[in-house]
Amino acid sequence: MQKFLVPNRFAEKTAVVTGAAGGIGEATAKRLAAEGASVLCCDLADEPLAATVSDITAAGGVAVSHPMDISDSAACDAAVQLAVGTWGGLDVLCNIAGILRFAHSHEETDQNWQMMINVNLSGTFYLSRAALPHLMETKGAILNVSSTAGLIGQAYLSAYCASKHGVIGITKAMAVEYARSRVRINAICPGGVDTSMTQKIDFPEGVEFDLVMRASLANENCTPDDVANLIAWTVSDEATYVNGSVISVDGGVAAG
Ligand SMILES: NC(=O)c1ccc[n+]([C@@H]2O[C@H](COP(=O)([O-])OP(=O)(O)OC[C@H]3O[C@@H](n4cnc5c(N)ncnc54)[C@H](O)[C@@H]3O)[C@@H](O)[C@H]2O)c1
Repeated sequence: MQKFLVPNRFAEKTAVVTGAAGGIGEATAKRLAAEGASVLCCDLADEPLAATVSDITAAGGVAVSHPMDISDSAACDAAVQLAVGTWGGLDVLCNIAGILRFAHSHEETDQNWQMMINVNLSGTFYLSRAALPHLMETKGAILNVSSTAGLIGQAYLSAYCASKHGVIGITKAMAVEYARSRVRINAICPGGVDTSMTQKIDFPEGVEFDLVMRASLANENCTPDDVANLIAWTVSDEATYVNGSVISVDGGVAAG
């Protein structure tokens, strides 16, 4: 039985959603499409991305699969152009794709550091930069997925923390800059979410797990749908005065 009445907040709207091959991005793409959005589903992983799109279309929604690497700025420009060229405009950008790698900070490699910054931080910036001129036309919205690690320090995650704190910086700077153009830019900070990211974590030798577990209160994760519910609200017209906000969805972890 359906738990709630599905509203239709995104009828006639178009969205670009990254990370749509799995986890939070997949749940968000499906949620926006279920509420009427035409969704350009973007991700590196082409096969699971195609599965997301076929689930959406089988349910009567509108979606296009667009395999891409968000750390490539030209690819970000092309993705936005594709959405605008296909549907005539852009209303919503959800920057959700991301990567997580644990390392002792004194052993972190240049390659890992750069990769985390390039994907989590630069990817978010590149897509936002490409989308903003179109969002100014539609008075649209951007939602960036940061993390509890964007608010507090987490052991063995210097690069991830830097990238996710940076995502909050981008969010606030752009929110101020584009407020008069009526483009809203917000960030959410999930705690533990049951996705492939948390299911297969590779810890380096010598990790002290009590330090890792400081970022967990209830010892249980939420679901991708719990996070997608919040994302959908922030980019909907129900949130018209919500701009530059950083909203936690973490069971209270960052509060303590
Ligand atoms: N799972 C958690 O507990 C948690 C907590 C806080 C924040 N987050 C953030 O939520 C976001 C979504 O993560 P998730 O939990 O759904 O994990 P996930 O691994 O299921 O999804 C991440 C997606 O990003 C894609 N991706 C990775 N690099 C990419 C690139 N260069 N270009 C395009 N796509 C790329 C992956 O293929 C994957 O489908 C991430 O930004 C993550 O940092 C997750």
